[in-house]
Amino acid sequence: MCGIIGILGAEEVSERLLNGLRRLEYRGYDSAGICTIHDGVLDRRRAEGKLDNLAKKLFAEPLPGEIGIAHTRWATHGAPTTDNAHPHATGEVALVHNGIIENFKPLREELIACGRTFESQTDTEVVAHLISEQVEQGVAPAEAVRTVLKRLHGAFALAILFRQHPGMLIGARLGSPLVVGYGENETYLGSDALALAPLTQNIAYLEEGDWVVITREGTQIYDREDNPVDRPVTQSGVTGALIDKGNHRHFMQKEIYEQPIVVAQTLKSYVRRLDDQVSLPIPDFDLGAIRRVTIVACGTSFYAGMVAKYWFEQFARVPVDLDVASEFRYRAPVLEEGGLALFISQSGETADTLAALRHARSEGQKIAVVVNVPTSSMAREADLLLPTHAGPEIGVASTKAFTCQLAVLAALAANLAHAKGRLSPAEEKAVVRHLAEAPAALNAALAYDEAIETVAQKIAAARDVLYLGRGPDYPLALEGALKLKEISYIHAEGYAAGEMKHGPIALIDENVPVIVIAPSGPLFEKTVSNMQEVQARGGKVVLISDYDGISAAGDGCMATITMPKVHPLIAPLVYAIPVQLLAYHVAVAKGTDVDQPRNLAKSVTVE
Ligand code: F6R
Repeated sequence: MCGIIGILGAEEVSERLLNGLRRLEYRGYDSAGICTIHDGVLDRRRAEGKLDNLAKKLFAEPLPGEIGIAHTRWATHGAPTTDNAHPHATGEVALVHNGIIENFKPLREELIACGRTFESQTDTEVVAHLISEQVEQGVAPAEAVRTVLKRLHGAFALAILFRQHPGMLIGARLGSPLVVGYGENETYLGSDALALAPLTQNIAYLEEGDWVVITREGTQIYDREDNPVDRPVTQSGVTGALIDKGNHRHFMQKEIYEQPIVVAQTLKSYVRRLDDQVSLPIPDFDLGAIRRVTIVACGTSFYAGMVAKYWFEQFARVPVDLDVASEFRYRAPVLEEGGLALFISQSGETADTLAALRHARSEGQKIAVVVNVPTSSMAREADLLLPTHAGPEIGVASTKAFTCQLAVLAALAANLAHAKGRLSPAEEKAVVRHLAEAPAALNAALAYDEAIETVAQKIAAARDVLYLGRGPDYPLALEGALKLKEISYIHAEGYAAGEMKHGPIALIDENVPVIVIAPSGPLFEKTVSNMQEVQARGGKVVLISDYDGISAAGDGCMATITMPKVHPLIAPLVYAIPVQLLAYHVAVAKGTDVDQPRNLAKSVTVE
């Protein structure tokens, strides 16, 4: 994973590199480092932990230089220590890396046998040594990089400095993203356009296998066969301003509260209130020809896909396969002609999902992408791009991106049903109206924040928590459990309520709170029966339902959380709010780092 940035500048670079890293922290925050060239040496500052530690080091020991590279790390090989922090360097070469060098072990053994010594446990350091070995023998930097790239297996985005060439920056990518930014007398490398936004909007996206030599005389990109190529320069349109928390204590809290607005913003592209019809941003995409949908995603985005499966099958009667992306490619999925492969991702850069997308394309599927970052790799590779308009999501735990994904997916299900002739005008009108009610219902759900905080105090002491739901509320149970474990570190599991009796009910005792998500509707009574099975065994239940549901089944619960009464179509959006707020308040009560929980990163760019 990790974020990288490089500047061949017309003036000092270290402060600007540090600012770039702040914009890349979503890719990892285990450790960070910067290297510049000044006075004929490669000079590094590196620090374990959050970026502020590196900032303090730079303040104490400033780093001059008009060329530099920088890195924020999510550890894959080797603990998050200073020694393992990038840039990795020899006397001649320094580099930063995002990705995994899968054949690093034999390369390391070979280099050790040649007498080279290593200072880290990372996979990356071999690349610095391999290039350095060549340069030390007098091979020109571009030639050294070209030769070494051919020896690397795995995924990489690299930015490389050469001690003897203080006016040269070389980059390369395979599997991990890298962009070139063009400024006034300056050129940049970055993991994404966001990192470079305060420096330039003029961005060229490197393609798979590309490498680039940047000097003060100009920039030359080469493809994987080493042919010189031009890559188009586009305007990124990404804001250079750093996003702040406003009046909120954490980004996650701010993002939970933004949901009514961003869901409304998103829906505008998918439903027309004027004539109560659903619509798509690409109107001429032939949805009617789709015979099967394969949904692939990871984590929270996967749970949005799980909800969508219910909708697609119910409304459009189109069969849906659903996979977590890390499993999809490795189980030889059968992808028939006429299939739509649908990928859901906040970042649009998740390595597993991106690899799955490319696999589906190679198998002849049409590619649809629900994505929040419009400049991302997935957005650029889609046949049918379905943007969510959630705005930048900074908190590592996904919240507003999830509800916006649900809004898009509900509208897509209705579009598919329409294209298949399975939605009468009256039904279409009803769907549009229900969706249009979602923003106000989300607002109403947020009004229960204080009550949810009170319930959170009771949950904060638990060691294990279970979440139960049926139908589209089952994925919400999984999402609730994921939110709780990732930010509060409490062990939590989500189950389909009806599955409890097949095993998990053995876990029930008075110390395991059970959160039951049960809006009144067709599955309410069945869910309540499962809840009563838990209560009969001494289980302590928190029931999340509407007023009717709580009146009918709230007695005997440890606590209840009331939600506004909504149509079942939008219930998954509305019930996302209490599961998010519950996890948030538990994490705050436990004093964890809500926005940057341990061991995680916002964008997971390694397989
Ligand atoms: C959980 C969370 C993750 C992501 C997952 C996929 O709160 O944020 O589970 O949902 O890593 O990321 P994207 O959606 O960027 O592909």
